[in-house]
Amino acid sequence: MSNKGADLDDVLVVHGGTPLEGEVQVRGAKNLVSKAMVAALLGTSSSTLKSVPRISDVDIVTGLLRVHGVEVELNGDTLYMDPSHVESAGTEEINVHAGSSRIPILFCGPLLHRLGKAFIPDLGGCNIGGRPIDYHIEALRKFGAVVDKTDKGMHLSAPQRLKGIQYELDYPSVGATEQILLTAVLAEGTTELRNAAIEPEIIDLICVLQQMGAIIQVHTNRVIEIVGVDELHGYSHRAVPDRIEAASWASAALATGGNVFVKGARQADMMTFLNVFRSIGGAYEVDDDPIEGGIRFWHPGGDLSPVALETNVHPGLMTDWQQPIVVALTQANGLSIMHETVYESRFGYTSELSQMGANIELYSQCLGGSHCRWGRRNFLHSAVIAGPTKLHGTDIQIPDLRAGFSHLIAALAAEGTSRIYGVDKFITRGYEDFETKLRGLGAHIVRPGTEEE
Ligand code: EPU
Repeated sequence: MSNKGADLDDVLVVHGGTPLEGEVQVRGAKNLVSKAMVAALLGTSSSTLKSVPRISDVDIVTGLLRVHGVEVELNGDTLYMDPSHVESAGTEEINVHAGSSRIPILFCGPLLHRLGKAFIPDLGGCNIGGRPIDYHIEALRKFGAVVDKTDKGMHLSAPQRLKGIQYELDYPSVGATEQILLTAVLAEGTTELRNAAIEPEIIDLICVLQQMGAIIQVHTNRVIEIVGVDELHGYSHRAVPDRIEAASWASAALATGGNVFVKGARQADMMTFLNVFRSIGGAYEVDDDPIEGGIRFWHPGGDLSPVALETNVHPGLMTDWQQPIVVALTQANGLSIMHETVYESRFGYTSELSQMGANIELYSQCLGGSHCRWGRRNFLHSAVIAGPTKLHGTDIQIPDLRAGFSHLIAALAAEGTSRIYGVDKFITRGYEDFETKLRGLGAHIVRPGTEEE
């Protein structure tokens, strides 16, 4: 690894080769919690969100809400948000450093409703493809917003109350669906959104909005109908559990030959992952107790089987499950295929896995499944993984959140020592207390400069 650009203090040393065993707890999903926090801005009274993880994306959205006069307080894992002073705060610009979060764009609708204007700085987010926002802008303009893009960000204004729209997404984008929901709920008249995303986190956001007084109907065939209302109030809601984190621990158990009980993981949201996990040769057991329950994942011994998979929108295989599964597939006996259809460029992390001894080839063709948007466009979006391969430790500068956690899983499964750079910058965005959890599972990890070293 070249140390160029690496923060040399932001490093975790991993001595691999130990099966992970024990219990971890997952809290609310990052990709719901951050959106439910934005929704609080739409209410005239306070909201309470439960099962909030301590992750840096929550800190970022807290900062963005405070800039707009929302009082935010975290007590344990319960977040209180009081938006009653938003108008008097009257702040126009989001000048908080939003880091690599893409959440600021979801402030458009709520700010336009409350203040009639908004400024949204240029967005961050993981470097996994172009990540355009054309659907967001087109829909906002249809609602009646005036959107002016500058090189620093977007200035928006609503000369009059926004009006409901009929809109069809070219692709069921999660973010654009949330944008339209958060804007349509207070717009005048009815909005009909076709080809909407229906991920469990979106359904949970709809539950939040419904509690606030919104009228939202999810029809068949990805059609969502929102009847705009004049006012919304606060909500009290427990966030849906984080199925990405749950699948990450499950894959870590499989790749290291371990046994991990993921407390809080919920079967209904993970059905597609569970099918894949079992097809590869992993074992799991569901405990559906509402408080103490979760899912136990383990490697039952013997060979793991190769599989051909493709990522897709819900209810397909989540793109964020792709990376941890690929690490586990390096240990399967034969050729596996992973066709990534959601993002054009989400295999960058495999070069480090190859450096660790994995045998992974990337292709621009749509392998092993249906034709997707990225075929014939020179994007390396299909991977062939030949296993099993012995992984060995190495030094890695992680490139983004999910890739980074997968590098961590690979380092835990590998023989020898790895130095993983960028854990504080990236992994803390989406994995609460991951170091404590790893230590609890018996992982040999060390922060250089500490007594343990
Ligand atoms: N797209 C467009 N135009 C748009 C918006 C999206 O072409 O205006 C395309 C994207 O380029 C991509 C596809 O639509 O090819 C899907 O993107 P989507 O909008 O669904 O993704 P997102 O809302 O930006 C969220 C999650 C991602 C997760 C995806 C897919 C958050 C904050 N992020 O992103 O999570 O991978 O949905 O499920 O909710 C993560 O948690 O690490 C993460 C990247």
